[in-house]
Amino acid sequence: MEVLKFLVLFIALWATIETRTKSPLLDEDRGLARNKAAECIFGKQIRELGSHWIPDLGVPIGVLYCMKCECIPFQRKRRIVARVQCRNIKNECPEPTCDDPVLLEKSCCKTCPGDNKNETNFVQDIVPQNKIEEEERRINHYAALLTGRSSLDLKNDTSSNDLNKNNVVATGRFTFHKKNLHYSFYISEKAARPRSLHFLDSQGNILEEFTLSHAGGLVNSLYQNATRKVCGIWRRLPRDYRRLLKNEKMYVVLIWGTKDSEFTLSGRLTNYISLASEQFSSLLEPAPGTDSAKMAGSGGMAIVSTSSTPSPSIHIAVAFNGLFTTQESSEVPINVILCLDEKRQILLEENIKVRKPASDLNLIELSSPVSLADLRSLSRGRVLLTVSSVSEPNALRLSGNVITKITCEIFQTTLIGDKDLAGLAWMYLNNQGALIYSIQVDNMEPEQFNAVTLTDTAGKRKAEVLTPYFHSGWANGTEDRLVHKILEPLYNSRLDMRVAVGNGSLHGHLNAKLVADARDAPAPLLLKRENYTLPPSVVGLAWISVDNDCHIHYDISISGLGHERKMELYLEMYPIIAPGAPVLLKHLEDFEGNQVEGSPLEALTKEELDMLDGGVTFIKIKDFNSKAVLLSATITRVKLPVTCRPLYNNNVPLIYDIPVVRPTEDCFFEGKFYKKDSTWVSKNPCQMCFCQDGQTTCDRMTCPDLKCPRNNMTIPGECCPVCGDPEILKSNKKCVFNGMTYSSGSRFHPFLIPIGFDDCTVCTCDPNDLEIKCRRIESNSAKCGKGSVTETPDTQGEDSVQMSTWSFHRKEEVSNAGLIIKEGGCNNQNNLERPYKNGSTYHPHIASLGEYKCVTCKCQNGTSTCARERCEWKNCKMIFDLRKVRSKTNKRSQFSFSDYCCSLKECRKIRHKKKIEERSSHKQ
Ligand SMILES: *[C@@H]1O[C@H](CO)[C@@H](O)[C@H](O)[C@H]1NC(C)=O
Ligand SMILES: *[C@@H]1O[C@H](CO)[C@@H](O)[C@H](O)[C@H]1NC(C)=O
Ligand SMILES: *[C@@H]1O[C@H](CO)[C@@H](O)[C@H](O)[C@H]1NC(C)=O
Ligand SMILES: *[C@@H]1O[C@H](CO)[C@@H](O)[C@H](O)[C@H]1NC(C)=O
Ligand SMILES: *[C@@H]1O[C@H](CO)[C@@H](O)[C@H](O)[C@H]1NC(C)=O
Ligand SMILES: *[C@@H]1O[C@H](CO)[C@@H](O)[C@H](O)[C@H]1NC(C)=O
Ligand SMILES: *[C@@H]1O[C@H](CO)[C@@H](O)[C@H](O)[C@H]1NC(C)=O
Repeated sequence: MEVLKFLVLFIALWATIETRTKSPLLDEDRGLARNKAAECIFGKQIRELGSHWIPDLGVPIGVLYCMKCECIPFQRKRRIVARVQCRNIKNECPEPTCDDPVLLEKSCCKTCPGDNKNETNFVQDIVPQNKIEEEERRINHYAALLTGRSSLDLKNDTSSNDLNKNNVVATGRFTFHKKNLHYSFYISEKAARPRSLHFLDSQGNILEEFTLSHAGGLVNSLYQNATRKVCGIWRRLPRDYRRLLKNEKMYVVLIWGTKDSEFTLSGRLTNYISLASEQFSSLLEPAPGTDSAKMAGSGGMAIVSTSSTPSPSIHIAVAFNGLFTTQESSEVPINVILCLDEKRQILLEENIKVRKPASDLNLIELSSPVSLADLRSLSRGRVLLTVSSVSEPNALRLSGNVITKITCEIFQTTLIGDKDLAGLAWMYLNNQGALIYSIQVDNMEPEQFNAVTLTDTAGKRKAEVLTPYFHSGWANGTEDRLVHKILEPLYNSRLDMRVAVGNGSLHGHLNAKLVADARDAPAPLLLKRENYTLPPSVVGLAWISVDNDCHIHYDISISGLGHERKMELYLEMYPIIAPGAPVLLKHLEDFEGNQVEGSPLEALTKEELDMLDGGVTFIKIKDFNSKAVLLSATITRVKLPVTCRPLYNNNVPLIYDIPVVRPTEDCFFEGKFYKKDSTWVSKNPCQMCFCQDGQTTCDRMTCPDLKCPRNNMTIPGECCPVCGDPEILKSNKKCVFNGMTYSSGSRFHPFLIPIGFDDCTVCTCDPNDLEIKCRRIESNSAKCGKGSVTETPDTQGEDSVQMSTWSFHRKEEVSNAGLIIKEGGCNNQNNLERPYKNGSTYHPHIASLGEYKCVTCKCQNGTSTCARERCEWKNCKMIFDLRKVRSKTNKRSQFSFSDYCCSLKECRKIRHKKKIEERSSHKQ
C-alpha cells in the first residue's frame, strides 16, 4: 500500500514536472512560458483532454497495471486547464468467483478461468493516441464576426464598449483539419494588433489562449505584417472541444490593452457553407457619417465567391448586426450595394429582407451575374461593399472594401527542371490583391533567366506571365495588376508554374498552405541533393521557425523520392565551419512520404539556440536504411524571438553579425577549434596557447640569454635564436618536446599549464645526445622575469622550489616500447618511446612541472582515462593563506594554484559560495 501511495505521488510529480512550457532561458516568474491548457503531458507524450491510460513509467518501474491515469479538465478561475490524475484501480476489481483465482500477466485483477475478460482488462478502455478519426480528415471551415455585440457574456462587461470608442470590428476564418484549428483574423485598421486571443465555450470559460503580440505590439512575421492579418494554429483540439466546434458552440475573443483597461471583441465560430469557395472577404465597419451612438459595437463581414464559367457571377454572404431600429422586428429590408470605390459606380444593388432581426448576428445572401470587368475590379481590390438600413440609410450603414480572402494562406512549390536545375517558389496575395512572389533557382545567373509563366491546369490556359527582378539568387516580384482568372486556379490548386532559364526550364505545381508556425518564417529554404547520383527531380522546400517558447517548428515538402521511402530528418549544428569544430546532431523525426511537419516536445536547449543564432546549422534528410544523406540545406535565416536570444559573451567570430556564446568547452583560436585542456603553438612560434573551460589563454615566450650573443640565428618555425654553429645546423637534428621542435643547441623556457612559460626554468636541446635538459635558474635571479618565483626561507614545504636538473631522454629501446603498446599499453604524449603499460596508473607529465599530480590516468587496453582531482575549499584555503603570507612579505608566486589542483577562478567561486552558505546558516 505504501508503495502505491508513493507511486501516486511520484506519478503526480512526474506529470507536472514534464511540461512543455519551459523555455530554457526564461525564469518561470516572468510567466511568458506557454501553458497549453487543453492537453496533458505525461512522460514525453501528449495526452488529449479526456483520454485515459495505464501508466508506463519505463525502466525500472515499467507498466503499472493497477493504475489508471486520466487527463481531466480542471477549472482555474475562468480557465479550463488539463491535469493528469492517476488512481489505484485495484479495489475496483470484481470479486473472483472461484477459490483459486490467478493473476494473469499484464492485468491488475485476479481472474478465474472462464471469467469474462472484458470486465477486468482495463487496458481495453484506452483510446488509442494519435488516431485520426474519419471526420477529422475532412477540412471544415468556420468564420466569426467579432464585434461588441456578440451573444457572449460580454453583456456583463459594460466597460468593454466604452473602451471600443473607435468601433473596432474584426472577422476570423478557421480551418479545421486533422485535429488542428488554423485561425486567421482581419481587424479594423483603426486598431493595433491585439494582445491575446481566447477560445471560449458558451459559459465564458477559457478553453485555450494565445499571445498575439508582446510588448510594443511587434510582429515577428513578415506575412502577418504585410497583410495585417493575425495567423496561428491551435494544435490537437481535444475531442470535447471538437464537438463544441462542430455544434457551433465555440467563441473567440480578441483582447487589447492591459489588465485594468482591457477591451475585447468576441464572436461565435459558425460554419457558413459559402466558406469552402470563398475567394474574397470584406470587413464591414460603421460607415463615415453614420450615427456612432446607434451603431456602437456593431459590424459585419462578407464571404464573396465568384465564378467565370459558364458566365461571370458573384455570390455574397453577409453576416452583420446593428442595422435595425428598435421598431423593426420582422421582415426588415436591408440594402446591399457593390460599387467601384473611386467613381462610386454601382455594380450591384439589391434589397434583401431579414425575417427576424437579431441583435448579435444576421445572415443575408445574394447571387448575381456580373461583367468580366467587374470581376477584374474585384480582384484588384477596388470594390466597396455597403450594407445599410432601408429606413435610416444615413444613420445605420456598414461598409468595407472587398479584399482577397482573409484566411492566412501562402502558395508554394518545388521547381524541378531538366539539366540539373532545381528551385522553389512561394507567393501570397496581399490585401490590395497583389501577388507577391519569390522564386529561387539553384545557381541561376540573372542573365540566364527568361520568363515565368503561370498556367491553369484545367484547359492548359496560360494565365499570367510574371516579370520578376533578381537579387542574390532570388527572382522576386509583385504582380499588382493580377488578372481575375488566376485567382480561382490558385485557390483551387490548379496553377502550374514554369520558369524558363537559359535553354532549359523548371516547373512546379502551386499548393495552398495555411500560415502558422514554421510556414510563418520569412522565407523557405531550398533543400538540395547531397549526392549528384540522385536524379535532379529530388528537391525539397523547408520552412523553419522558432516560436516564443523556444520550440523549433519545421515543415518540409520534398519531391522525387517517392512515397514509400523511410527517411530521417535532423539538424547538424556547428558553432562555425572550421577544422575540428564540434558538431551537435539533433534528430527531429523519422518519416515516410513527401511531406513532414512538426515540432519536438522539448524546447531547444541553450546550446542549440546558440548554434541557430550564430553558428552554422544544416537541415538534412537521410535515407533511414542506408543512412545516406539525400537532401540538405543551410539554415541561415532563423529569427529567434527576443525571449530565446542567448546572452552574449563571445569568442567565435560573428557570421551574421550576431554575436554568439561559445557553445562548447572547446576553444576557437586562429580559425581552428582546440579541445578542452589542450595546448598548441600558435601561428607565432613564440606563443603557446592552452584551452581551459572554453577560454584560450596564450603566453608569449621570452628567450633565455644566448651564450653566443653575436653569432646567433633564428630558425623558421622556432622562437628562440640558436648559436649559429654551422655543423650543428647542417645536421638538421632536432629535439621534440611537448609537441614543439627545437633545433639542437637551442635554449628555451618550458611551457606550463595553466601558468604559461616558466621563466625560471631553462631547457636546452643538447646537440650531442638530442636530449632536452632543463634546470631551474636562481630563484631570486632578476632574469626569472614576470611573476618570478622568489622563495623566502619562512615559507617552506609544499611551495619551496628545488633547484634541480633533469632531462628527457629521446632514445629508448623502440622494440620495448612497441611491445608495451602491443600489449595494450598507452602512448605517452610526452615521450613516445616510453608508453604506459596496460593496467598502469600514472600522472601525466606536463612540461617542466614534471608529473602533474592533480590528474590521475589509467591505461586500459590502449586507452587512457584521466580524472582531475577536484578543487576543494581545503586546497583553496591553503593557497589563500599562502598568498596572505606572500602579500605581507610583498612577494609573489605563481606556483600555488596548479600545485593545489585549483585555479584562482575556481577558488574565488568556492569562496563566494561558501560565504553565501555561511550567511544563510547564520540567519537560521
Ligand atoms: C468484450 O468486449 C468486446 C467489445 O468491447 C465485445 O465485442 C466482446 O464480445 C466482449 N467479450 C465478451 C466475452 O464479452
Ligand atoms: C456573466 O454573468 C453571468 C450571470 O450574471 C455569470 O454567471 C458569468 O460568470 C458572468 N461572466 C463573466 C465573464 O463575468
Ligand atoms: C511592416 O509593414 C509595414 C507596412 O506594411 C512596413 O513599413 C514595415 O517595414 C514592416 N515591418 C517589418 C518588420 O516587416
Ligand atoms: C527575395 O525573396 C526572398 C524570399 O522571400 C528574400 O529572402 C529576399 O530578401 C528577397 N530579395 C529581395 C532583393 O527583395
Ligand atoms: C552517392 O550515391 C551513390 C549511389 O547511391 C553511392 O554509391 C555513393 O557512395 C554516394 N556518394 C556519396 C558521396 O555519398
Ligand atoms: C643576435 O646577434 C645580433 C647581432 O648579430 C644581436 O644584435 C642580438 O642581440 C643577438 N641576439 C641575442 C638573443 O643574443
Ligand atoms: C583488456 O581486454 C581484455 C579482453 O578484451 C580483458 O579480458 C581485460 O580485462 C582487459 N584489460 C584491462 C586492463 O582492462
